[in-house]
Amino acid sequence: AEPLGVALFGLGTVGGGVAERLLRHPQTLTAGRPLSLKHAVVRDVAKNRGIDLPAGVLHDDMRRAVDDPAVAIGVELIGGIPQAFELCRDLLRAGKHVVTANKALICERGPELFALAAEHGRMIRYEAAVAGGVPIVAGLTESLAANRITGIRAILNGTSNFLLSRMADTGASYADALAEAQKRGYAEADPSMDVDGTDAAQKLVILSRLAFGAEVTFADVSMGGIDVLDAEDLSFAEELGCAVKLLAVAKRTERGLELSVRPTLVRRTDAVANINGPMNVVAVRGDLVGDAWFAGPGAGREPTASAVLADLLSIAAARPPFRPRQPDSPLRPVPADELFSR
Ligand code: NAP
Ligand code: HSE
Repeated sequence: AEPLGVALFGLGTVGGGVAERLLRHPQTLTAGRPLSLKHAVVRDVAKNRGIDLPAGVLHDDMRRAVDDPAVAIGVELIGGIPQAFELCRDLLRAGKHVVTANKALICERGPELFALAAEHGRMIRYEAAVAGGVPIVAGLTESLAANRITGIRAILNGTSNFLLSRMADTGASYADALAEAQKRGYAEADPSMDVDGTDAAQKLVILSRLAFGAEVTFADVSMGGIDVLDAEDLSFAEELGCAVKLLAVAKRTERGLELSVRPTLVRRTDAVANINGPMNVVAVRGDLVGDAWFAGPGAGREPTASAVLADLLSIAAARPPFRPRQPDSPLRPVPADELFSR
């Protein structure tokens, strides 16, 4: 079959992992039609990336890649919101499908992009935007499609989970553990987003829209991060037989949908306490399935590339895009500042 042209925007931690697999193992990436890397667009073409790209593929001209008729899918891996939004908008307007790993973008401007994608008859997929390599977007929208979801309890930020595990297990300082997470490619360009709860809250918003079909925004999440903790807090937790985890929780209550991200004491006997390092977990409660757990690497080059490539393959196989549930009754978020004030 005719190859499907792919343009990668961003060739950093995630983009580099995607490019390597596209170039080295193309035979495993042929669902429907083979994928062919046409462009890898970056800011600095002089940077040494250790990737052997075919001549002409690497450049810094976004417009050239967006307008190339040989490109069917654009993969946004540059991060941030304004430029990423403009890129995805331009790709959709140019008739391309879009894959992104950008949770900030999907949380803040996802609905606009979904409307644009529908208007242009194109798909937008974002499995890698939540929990890295863990297939939770597909899990919620496809595998658990028949369930009425009543709650989600999750660890959604790999960097802060890595930090907490490192500090508790090796006595590493907060600063050293954060530097290690950055070196391993887990952290965001601005790592304060990881440690202050922002990244996990953005992911919780995305999951809540899919799980509950509710109109949820970032402001609906009552949020706190691990940046307020020190080694003493973790050793007190140990004395109590607990671990500290940055838990993201969404639950249906009589008042509405309660959404929070908080450092939380979790008993050592609870399996969530033993999700360590950059691992994530999402426990979903559905009325048919009961408690279904999705766990695995939540950040890092190859696990995230795994999810991005799955989205590319879904598009190559012409599988239709994710659809959030229709709410069975109007479901409104409880105002975030009322959650812990009772
Ligand atoms: P990164 O390592 O900082 O890479 C960003 C890439 O984008 C770089 O190659 C950079 O070019 C390029 N770029 C940035 N602005 C650009 C522009 N205006 N024009 C052209 N290229 C531009 O970031 P990353 O860790 O791969 O993350 C990318 C996205 O994936 C983010 O949305 C992030 O939240 C998401 N994500 C990351 C992970 C993870 O574990 N890292 C996991 C899940 C999702 P240069 O190389 O020339 O600077
Ligand atoms: N910075 C994010 C994390 C990357 O640490 O979880 C994965 O989304």
